[in-house]
Amino acid sequence: MSDETQVRIACTDEGEGAPLVLVHGFPLSRGAWASQVEAFRGTRRVIAPDLRGFGDSGSSVGAVSMERYADDLAELLDRLGTGPVVLAGHSMGGYVAFAFVRRYRERLRGLVLVSTRAGADAPQAAASRRATAEKVREVGVAPVIEAMLPKMVAPGTDDPELLAEVEALMTPSSVDGTIGALLGMAERPDSTPLLGEIDVPTLVITGGDDTVIPVADSEAMVAAIPGAELAIVPGAGHLVAYEKPEAFNQELRRWLVANEL
Ligand code: MLT
Repeated sequence: MSDETQVRIACTDEGEGAPLVLVHGFPLSRGAWASQVEAFRGTRRVIAPDLRGFGDSGSSVGAVSMERYADDLAELLDRLGTGPVVLAGHSMGGYVAFAFVRRYRERLRGLVLVSTRAGADAPQAAASRRATAEKVREVGVAPVIEAMLPKMVAPGTDDPELLAEVEALMTPSSVDGTIGALLGMAERPDSTPLLGEIDVPTLVITGGDDTVIPVADSEAMVAAIPGAELAIVPGAGHLVAYEKPEAFNQELRRWLVANEL
């Protein structure tokens, strides 16, 4: 089997109006957007899928390219019958958003890049992901979850309730899904050349204390994307939308309204 395998994609689909699509990062699931679903479903249609291999979606065996995730998303939007969408992608979800821009530009009204980066993996980082994929094959996903958990929140955050919630967002990740994403991220293309061609309103938003993807990566994207706006949420780590939902939602709402999206 390859990543051409069709799988069932689970999603949250609430509210009515202009569609806002929220794509989670690695190794998370759609519950990562719970506060955004709650905050925006009164005024728009909010769609949050579980990427293949995560949450309640089915898995396939082998590397899952960012293009494959983007195709899953396009097929889901076909099934849901949406018109063009505002697409928000967190971290790996941002890598998927770049693939979506490459393949489905006409289906986009706006782009929100959340704690993500445009560059590909350096060779050492790619090798390290492949080694992690091997480890997951041998012992399961627990070490990945354990390693990622403290990095999801701002350094020094030890709120046991928050950490338990974030762990629960990662727990349903399947072995195949986790391996597939690691191998897919390792081989993803550099999206930097795409940035200058992005011609939809774009918000780049990140946590001021993100230790996974430094704020500098967000600043570099804003400098390269025509007309892009930058929002930095103080005191938030990598999982900014979950850790500081009010500040995040305020920035997102302001940008949506300002751009008539
Ligand atoms: C994520 O949060 O999606 C990952 O940390 C992204 C990555 O590992 O590059």
